[in-house]
Amino acid sequence: MDKAKLPRHIAIIMDGNGRWARNRDLPRLEGHRRGSETVEGIVEACREIGIEYLTLYAFSQENWNRPSDEVLGLMDLLKHFLIQKRPKLIQNGVRLRVIGQIDRLPEGVLRELTKTIAETRHCEKMTLVLALSYSSRSELTELVNQMVRSALAEGDASRVIREDELDRQLYTEGLPDPDLLIRTSGEHRISNFLLWQMAYTELYFTDTLWPDFNREELEAAIREYQSRERRFGLTTEQVRATL
Ligand code: FPP
Repeated sequence: MDKAKLPRHIAIIMDGNGRWARNRDLPRLEGHRRGSETVEGIVEACREIGIEYLTLYAFSQENWNRPSDEVLGLMDLLKHFLIQKRPKLIQNGVRLRVIGQIDRLPEGVLRELTKTIAETRHCEKMTLVLALSYSSRSELTELVNQMVRSALAEGDASRVIREDELDRQLYTEGLPDPDLLIRTSGEHRISNFLLWQMAYTELYFTDTLWPDFNREELEAAIREYQSRERRFGLTTEQVRATL
C-alpha cells in the first residue's frame, strides 16, 4: 500500500449481514450486531491508515420497509453503538457527521447522534459519516423542488443553477467526493447511495459478507484502487502530463 496515494474518502455499502446470520442459523439481528463490530474495526483501521473521510451506508430510506422488529433492532444497535463508542471516537479524534433524513429516526437515536456530533466536533484526525435514512434520489428531488420554489419566490424564471451551487446544498456539503466505494457481499449495485457524488468514484466489489470484512480486505481494496488510473474523462497522455 502506497501511503502517498491513499484515497482521501472511502465510502462503504456494508452488505451481507443477513446472509452471514442465515449461514449460521442465527437471527438476522445477530448479523447486524456482528456487522457493528466490523464497523468499529474498520473505523479504527481507516484512522490508523490515514484515511481522512469514511462514509458508511448504515440505513437507507428503503430499509424502513423491512420487518418492524429488524428496523427496531437496528435502531437499538445504532443507539448503543453511539453511546458505547462515543468516548473512543473522542479519544481517537474521530469527528462524526450524518447524512440522511434524520428527522425520521427515533428520538433516542437522534438524541445520541446529536450528542455525539456535538462532542466530536473538534476532532480532526478523521471524519466518520453515517448515512442514516438516506436516499440519494429523494435528497436530489427535494433539493430541486426547493430551488424551483425559491426561484419562483424571487420571480426569477431565468435563474441558472450551477453544479457547485447544487453540490454545496447537499448533505455532503464540504466533504470531498468519495475516491473509492467498497461494496461487500457480492452485489454489484450502487443502491441509491451518493449518486451525485460518485460520478468519478472507483468501485470495488468483494464477495466477503460485511461481518467478515476486515483490515486485510480493506488494504486489498486500497491497493486495487492505487493500481487504477483515474482519468476524469481525459486521455492517459493528458493525465500523465499533469503528474
Ligand atoms: C445490509 O445487510 C446491512 C444493513 C441494512 C445495515 C447495516 C448496519 C450495520 C452494519 C450495523 C449498524 C451500523 C452501525 C454504524 C453501528 P443485509 O441485512 O441487507 O444483508 P443481506 O443482504 O445478507 O440480507
